[in-house]
Amino acid sequence: MTPTARRHERRLIRAGNPSLAALLTLARVTGPIRKIPRVGWVVNDPVVARRILNDYDHFTMVGEGGVGHLWGQLFGPAFAAFFGGQGHADLRVKARDMFTEVKSTALVDRVLTPMLSDVRRNLAEGDRVDVVRTAKLMTGRVVADVLGLELRDRDEAYLRLFVSGERLAALALGTQVSTVLAPETIEQARSVVREITGGVEEAYRTRGAETILGRSREIGLDVEIAKALATLVTIAGTETAASAMARTVALLADTGQTAALLADRSRIPDAVREGLRVTSAAPVLGRHVAKDVVVQGRRLRAGDRILLAVHTANNRPGGFDVTRPYLPETRQLWFGAGRHLCLGAALGRAQLTRLLETLTAAGRPWRIESRTPARKVLVPTYATLTIRMAE
Ligand code: HEM
Repeated sequence: MTPTARRHERRLIRAGNPSLAALLTLARVTGPIRKIPRVGWVVNDPVVARRILNDYDHFTMVGEGGVGHLWGQLFGPAFAAFFGGQGHADLRVKARDMFTEVKSTALVDRVLTPMLSDVRRNLAEGDRVDVVRTAKLMTGRVVADVLGLELRDRDEAYLRLFVSGERLAALALGTQVSTVLAPETIEQARSVVREITGGVEEAYRTRGAETILGRSREIGLDVEIAKALATLVTIAGTETAASAMARTVALLADTGQTAALLADRSRIPDAVREGLRVTSAAPVLGRHVAKDVVVQGRRLRAGDRILLAVHTANNRPGGFDVTRPYLPETRQLWFGAGRHLCLGAALGRAQLTRLLETLTAAGRPWRIESRTPARKVLVPTYATLTIRMAE
């Protein structure tokens, strides 16, 4: 990776979340697993991380340190039960057919083709395009569609959904040290949840089983659980994918690899994989140690928390490079592993693929005209990233 690209990426992470930046910097020098006082066990090795993500006897998402602990405080124990055990397995089976590669690509094409055609035309005519706004709109549209929310095809409504998700996620800043939320944080979070779930009751009543909310009704989940699921999918599917998209577009320009992609568009899948790896938009995955266990010669005790610094682990092989082959050790750790492997992985990939196809369609490289990093966000990203085609 060029020094410019590395500098921009590091600046983004620092601006978005300084304690995340400190943790990732520390993880670069800690070795595969190390206990850090007041933080917990930090892992930076892809193979060790994957082993932990696949070990359900000793590690859980529910309990201090796991994201299920946060959701349980917001939506209660009935929802927390979906983060582990049989409840989680059953729900995954019932939702699986909605997230296949084929369905995800079809959804992205149906929902995004008109807006991406506009982006392509605007760029070809020499206009500036803000990739961040484009990416927010794309993810807002995709998430609303997969849920079954009717947002009347209005850009402002999709942006509002995105911004509410971002505000809710930002309330989790600082949970690297503890996942116990203060009562006032829970109150604030519930008010943002009301914004996100305003249209859920209607969608739950009226939409078909091809949408998450319609499917929730069909499989007998109550409407409160459906609201919690809608919130979870909004958080999981908007900031992550939008961050990966904006940062990959910047990485291509900053590393001077736009020309290579234009010369050989069959490299787009490699650029997508490299973008997802280098940005690792879910940079740290948390787990609670459920039972004593030895990992790499270290004894972890029940009740400890463990932070998998997957951003650091994924970046160990080197910087963004569209000629880098598939890395068997890393696989697709940016989407996690094991039974919580990202449900929307194909949706994330399809969006990034279509965006890069759109930007390369005119056959001319783009240059970055201006950019600003986003501040105080859970997922580091740009607040604006304006590009323009070279003459
Ligand atoms: C580049 C984009 C994305 C990245 C990097 C990403 C990353 C991840 C990761 C790392 C996990 C596992 C978390 C853990 O084990 O602690 C996860 C889970 C999840 N993701 Fe994604 N995600 C992305 C896009 C999406 C999209 C577009 C959706 C849906 C619209 C989505 C929905 C989910 C859901 C529902 C889960 C929970 C799965 C479970 O617990 O069984 N994600 N994601």
